[in-house]
This record gives sequence, structure tokens and C-alpha cells, in this order.
Amino acid sequence: MPTQDTKLLLRMAQHSHLEAINMTDLPEHVRRNRAHWDQLAVQFVSAGEHGWTVDEPNWGIWGVPESEVHMFPEDPLGKDVIELGCGTAYVSCWLARRGARVVGIDNSEQQLATARRLQREHNLGFPLIHGNAESVPYPDASFDFAVSEYGACLWADPYRWVPEAARLLRPGGRLHFLVNAFLLTLCVPAEDDSAASDRLLRPAFGMHRVHWPTDDSVEFHLSHGDWIRLLRQSGFEIEDLLEIWPKEDPQTTYPFVTLEWARRWPSEEVWKCRKRQR
Ligand SMILES: C[S@@+](CC[C@H](N)C(=O)[O-])C[C@H]1O[C@@H](n2cnc3c(N)ncnc32)[C@H](O)[C@@H]1O
Repeated sequence: MPTQDTKLLLRMAQHSHLEAINMTDLPEHVRRNRAHWDQLAVQFVSAGEHGWTVDEPNWGIWGVPESEVHMFPEDPLGKDVIELGCGTAYVSCWLARRGARVVGIDNSEQQLATARRLQREHNLGFPLIHGNAESVPYPDASFDFAVSEYGACLWADPYRWVPEAARLLRPGGRLHFLVNAFLLTLCVPAEDDSAASDRLLRPAFGMHRVHWPTDDSVEFHLSHGDWIRLLRQSGFEIEDLLEIWPKEDPQTTYPFVTLEWARRWPSEEVWKCRKRQR
């Protein structure tokens, strides 16, 4: 008879075996971004801690308030919500405090470790799944609302995660996500620590997978036409495309764009979509 300890060891061995299988099954960009975010997670601890302490949500690199962005549905109370690429899960925390039943999924175990610690410290529990938002272990039509702020909407392949979000949502459910504006992506230099200028540095046509050689990460960016076609073909109606215009005097710690640039051109955009009834 195996003892409790042997059983535990067996379970751990089975689990790491499954993890090994899962790792090789994952698409190349998901494996690459998992390593990237596991390494980067330490730099996102304090932003996560701060996010969990504020009551009024604010968004993106300029911290624009919810009253201007309206990322959340009008009444999150009792809604089933999934955050795709939740990181330290402060967005999920804001929704859970507003009475939503929240699930967060993230590709990085290290980011989730911070999220789990903050759950304990704030005494606020909700499921956190370590996985790829392109393939979520939940049945069809499980959620009313899906949200992503620079999460899977930036780091996962839109041709995989958008149809997956459509599958997960109930008819009439909403998908809201915030990403770098397409125009900014055209102007950001590939080198670290340099900000966008008024020069177009890469072609707009055919943009999809963008590999950043400095840190070996992979992002995905689409032209507006490609987003519209993909979202509509996946069963969504587009309700708004909000280009963030920072009007106060916010500071960002991110080096890739200056406030001066962001006051003249869109640096971030929020897509708001609704899944068609049929
Ligand atoms: C910038 S964080 C987003 C969280 C938070 N809103 C923020 O802005 O800090 C990006 C997160 O996306 C996650 N991510 C990247 N690819 C993913 C994928 N395919 N599925 C789920 N999460 C993913 C990363 O692990 C990381 O935690």
C-alpha cells in the first residue's frame, strides 16, 4: 500500500508529466511568452499590489479612470466574468468586489503566484487558472463578460483567442479589451527604451505576429480592418473603438511612448464588442 507521502509524490510526478506534455503541446509563441512573463513577473509585483488597493479602476499605461473608459459592464453584480491574461489579477479583483463571479486565466505561474498571495492578503478568493487563453477549460457559453487589459488580447494569437472568447460567452455577452493602438505599433522602435517618433517604422499591411528581439517575446497586432473582420466572423458586433486620449497630466513608466506623442496620436485603444444573439 502506498503511504500518504508516496501518493503525494505520485500525484506530483503525474502532474509534472502532464505539465511536460502540456508545455510541448503549447504553440511556440505561448511557450516563449510563458518564459518571458515568468521572468518579468517580479517587475509587476508592485503594480499588482497597488492595483489591489485602489477602489476606482483605472486603465492602461496612463491610468485613465473607469468613468472615461467604461471597460466594465454597467452592472457587474452577479455576472459570470473571465479575465483573459489576468496577470496579478487586479482587474478581476475590481470586478469581484463589484459582485461579479470572476475567473482569471494566465499563462504565467509566476504572475499567478503574486495574484494568489494578494488574494490571501485581501481575503478575496476566485478561481485562477494557469493556462492559455486560446484554449480555456470551460464549457461553451459559461460567461457574460470577458475582459483583457494588455493580457491575452496582446500576447495571444487573435485568430485563436477571439473565437475562443466567442465560444465562452453567452449570446449577448460582451468582450472588452485594451491594447496598444495600431498606429503606435507602427512607430515603436524595436530597440529597448526608445519611444515612438513621428516616423512609420514597419508596414501596416500583413501585420500580425510581432517578435521583439530584445526580450524574445511575441505580441500580436492587427490593423483595424483585420480586427473588424475577425471579430465579426467570430460572431461579435463591434459597439465601440475608443482611442485613449490622456488629458490630465499622467506619467507612464513605460519607455515606448511619451505623453507628448500620446496627446497627438492614439497610443492605446479599447475594443468593445457584443456577441450576436444568433
Ligand atoms: C501586462 S500583463 C496583463 C495583466 C494586467 N492587466 C497588467 O496590465 O499588468 C500580461 C499578462 O498576459 C499573460 N499572457 C500572455 N499570453 C497569454 C496567453 N496565451 N494566455 C493567457 N495569458 C497570457 C502574461 O502571462 C501576463 O501575465
